[in-house]
Amino acid sequence: MLDVGSIRRDFPILQRKMDGKRIVYLDSTATTQKPESVINAIAEFYRNYNANVHRSVYKLGWEATDCYEQARKNVADFIGVKSEEIVFTRNTTESLNLLSYSLEGKLKKGDRILISSMEHHSNILPWMRLEERGINLDYINLTPEGFLDIEDFKSKIKKETKIISITHQSNVLGTINDIDTLSKIAKENDSIFIVDGAQSIPHMPFKMINGIDYMAFSGHKMLGPLGIGVLYGKYENLSELPPFQRGGEMIKEVDFHKVEFEDPPIKFEAGTPNVEGAVGLSAAIDYLKKIGMENVRSHEKYLTRKALDSLSTLKNIQIYGPRDTEKRGGVISFNIRSEAIKRKIASGNIHLDGLLHSHDVASHLDESNVFVRSGHHCAQPLMKYLNIKGTARASFYIYNDIDDIEALVSGLEGIDVQ
Ligand code: ALA
Repeated sequence: MLDVGSIRRDFPILQRKMDGKRIVYLDSTATTQKPESVINAIAEFYRNYNANVHRSVYKLGWEATDCYEQARKNVADFIGVKSEEIVFTRNTTESLNLLSYSLEGKLKKGDRILISSMEHHSNILPWMRLEERGINLDYINLTPEGFLDIEDFKSKIKKETKIISITHQSNVLGTINDIDTLSKIAKENDSIFIVDGAQSIPHMPFKMINGIDYMAFSGHKMLGPLGIGVLYGKYENLSELPPFQRGGEMIKEVDFHKVEFEDPPIKFEAGTPNVEGAVGLSAAIDYLKKIGMENVRSHEKYLTRKALDSLSTLKNIQIYGPRDTEKRGGVISFNIRSEAIKRKIASGNIHLDGLLHSHDVASHLDESNVFVRSGHHCAQPLMKYLNIKGTARASFYIYNDIDDIEALVSGLEGIDVQ
């Protein structure tokens, strides 16, 4: 069991009171709060080490470069890969855009890209862009419980399927996809296999597997600062990939009409990088390692079980995603059915889905300082697939406890559905 009381004391923002009451922060899927050690690491970098990296011959420049490269090594060790396989980006979205642009040259008209119906826009729109170049985008269906339909997955893999890009954990349904099995199926077809790890890397133990070609995740969802993201790529893949952006620092030699690019990962980091972000992310990783990722996962499983059980006792709730906590993470999407809206529908006055608007649910919870996200969660195709406009969504992390779940449930009990 995690000592949540002591963990909470490490997070200055969680000491805040709003309207005299504690904050119940249930939106870590959107972004996590930051511990003092991360905030301090960033301040310490600016106080003592700030200089531009990879370009200065003076001592301070070397030290700044050292901070940056140590951070890269820490990220690499965390997921069990080599430092030179870690590219720093702004976030998961930028990592996946980098791939969309850099892999474009490998695709020809008629090729296919396969993603799933539970993807975040960041793993849809970069690939949809390629439809304009005659590439076909296919979506894997889901089972009624919210898992990937493996038979549908297999049936949609064609010899033209050059890229398969799947989220490890859904930011809406919480579903954890079996990346190992999916990667094996992808590799039998020689497809490039990409994983969106934005919602998994922060929440569970993970070591890289051979079947993954590229993986993207964000620092701010794992206690790190905003604006720093990661793209993992196998070194041989990164070596043959052209850069996404061009400019400062990413070259070996530039002539008037010719350029020789640096080796990976620097080839993909044009311009001055976000050094403070890398340093902060590294401090976040240290914090998570101290807690232990097994413990992070167990704690979230425990909270998710408790929350699913308590929420299920509410009469008007509709919960989405799998119920088995072994196969899902700590994010619970739900809607509240409204008797009043149902009556109006029955009388033919309006045509609605019979659900309270998720923003109304979130605003109601906000009145008691329970902060949840609402809307489409940047997953509009999934909302269309589920035939809803949006959901309210509670998500958990290491600083949440049973009190937070009780506050959520009692907040929902107070909603007027009549
Ligand atoms: N991807 C983040 C979320 O699901 C922003 O809220």
